[in-house]
Amino acid sequence: MKRAIYPGSFDPVTKGHIDVIERSAKLVDELVVGVLNNSAKNSLFLVDERVSMLKELTSSLPNVTIDSFDGLLVDFAKSIHATIVVRGLRAVTDFEYELQIAQTNHEVYNDIETIFLTTRLEYAYISSTIVKEFASHGGDISHFVPEPVIERIYAKYRK
Ligand code: PNS
Repeated sequence: MKRAIYPGSFDPVTKGHIDVIERSAKLVDELVVGVLNNSAKNSLFLVDERVSMLKELTSSLPNVTIDSFDGLLVDFAKSIHATIVVRGLRAVTDFEYELQIAQTNHEVYNDIETIFLTTRLEYAYISSTIVKEFASHGGDISHFVPEPVIERIYAKYRK
């Protein structure tokens, strides 16, 4: 059985993330979306909020589950017996960083392979950072994030 992890911060989840989830779920038996609980990073959403939004958005995908992790990705992968890491590549600028992480993870845990999905062109420019910047100024984010999370993002900036 092939179990894969799609790790990320998902702060917030974007349409690009959902596209990668839907497409990679078709390639494996089980896909675990791993939400990084990074206490050092000043995140907009608590990890539980990110997990719950992702659960809501993927509820129609039977082989997708959502979990959170802290520490190293390879340790999380070992703990859930996953052997594949999925990452999305938007542009060549993503590549160097992603290559480094993939090679490091493979070096320390030989059983793990990273596969990259190229982002669909219509989502290639979307990043969580830009979504936050846009939303913080009251900009229209409906092109970038799934409908159910739009209001939750604005609500964070109203506080
Ligand atoms: O959505 P992001 O922030 O680009 O995701 C980055 C993520 C979560 C994949 C990466 O930071 C990660 O795996 N962090 C866990 C710690 C780790 O294992 N780092 C990689 C080895 S240096």
